[in-house]
Amino acid sequence: MTTSEISDYALGAGEAERARLLAQCEIHRAEAEHLVDRIGVAPGWRTIDIGCGPLGVLDILAGRVGPHGCVTGVDREPRFVEMAARSLRERDLESVPVVTADAATTGLPDGSFDLVHERLVLNNVAHPSDIVAEMSRLTRPGGYVAVQDMDWISWTCQPAHTAWDRLHTATAASWVCDVFLGRRLPELLRDAGLVDVGVDAHVRVWRAGDPYQKLLLRFAEIHRERILALATVTETELDSWVRELDAHLDHPDTVTLYATFFQAWGPQARNRHRNGVMTWNPRSGCCSPAARSTATAAR
Ligand SMILES: C[S@@+](CC[C@H](N)C(=O)[O-])C[C@H]1O[C@@H](n2cnc3c(N)ncnc32)[C@H](O)[C@@H]1O
Repeated sequence: MTTSEISDYALGAGEAERARLLAQCEIHRAEAEHLVDRIGVAPGWRTIDIGCGPLGVLDILAGRVGPHGCVTGVDREPRFVEMAARSLRERDLESVPVVTADAATTGLPDGSFDLVHERLVLNNVAHPSDIVAEMSRLTRPGGYVAVQDMDWISWTCQPAHTAWDRLHTATAASWVCDVFLGRRLPELLRDAGLVDVGVDAHVRVWRAGDPYQKLLLRFAEIHRERILALATVTETELDSWVRELDAHLDHPDTVTLYATFFQAWGPQARNRHRNGVMTWNPRSGCCSPAARSTATAAR
C-alpha cells in the first residue's frame, strides 16, 4: 500500500479500492434500485448517502429525486470525497455536493432529509449503532432510514475446501468490525427509533472469472498482517492455503456462494420531537453543508 492509500478504512482509499467499489456499485445496482422503489423515493425528495465512497448510490438517488430534489454525499476520507466528486463529474452530476464528515457526527441539522441511506459502511465501523443514531437524527418525521450491509454467514465455496474454511475463519477473525452484522440491521434501526422496519436479503453465486470469485483471497491479502498477528497460523501455512484456494477457485466447476446482502429500512416516527431547524443552503441548492456543520464540501 502506498502512503497516499493509507486511510482509516481498512481496505484503503487508493485507486484499486476505487475501481473495486465502482464495480461493486454495478453489482448491487439492481438491489439498490429495488430498495428505493420500495421506499417510494420520488421527485423533490431530500436525500443523503452516508459513507458514499467513490459513488455509492448518489447517481441512483439523483435520478430519482430529479432537479427539484437534492442529493448529498458524505464520507470521512477526503480521498473518497475527491473520488466521488470525480465520479459525479463523469456522470454530469456536478450539482451533487459531497462533504467530508464522520458519519456518527455529521454536524448537519436535525430532521433535514426525507431519506438517509448507507451501504457497506456499518460493516466497516466499530460502533455501528452510533452511525444509525445519527442517521435517525437526520431524518425528518415520516422520512426513511435505509441500510445495506453484508453478513458472511452464507459465504462459502462448493465443492467445499479446507483452505476456504481456514481463510474464511482467519479473515473474519482479523476484521476489526462485525462481518455478521447484516442480520442485526433491523434491530439496529428499531433501537434508533425507526418504526415499521422492513428487511430483505439477497445472495449471489460466482464462478471462475467472475469479479468476486476470489474476493476472500483479496481480503486475506489485505488483512495478512492482522491474520498473522492472531498467531493461529504460520506464514507458511497461510501461503499454502492461499495457493491451494487460488487453484480451487480457478476450477470451472467451483462456485462461491457470496455473503448475504441484507437491506433494512424504516420510517421515522411522525411524532418524533425535533429541536433543530432545517437549514437550506442556497449556494448548493441543497440541505448541506449547514451553517453549524463542521463538514467541508467538494464540488
Ligand atoms: C465499503 S465502502 C462503501 C462505499 C459506498 N457506500 C458504496 O456502497 O459503494 C465504505 C465507505 O465508508 C466510509 N466510512 C467508513 N467509516 C466512516 C465514517 N465513520 N464516517 C463516514 N464514512 C465512513 C469509507 O471511507 C468508505 O468510503
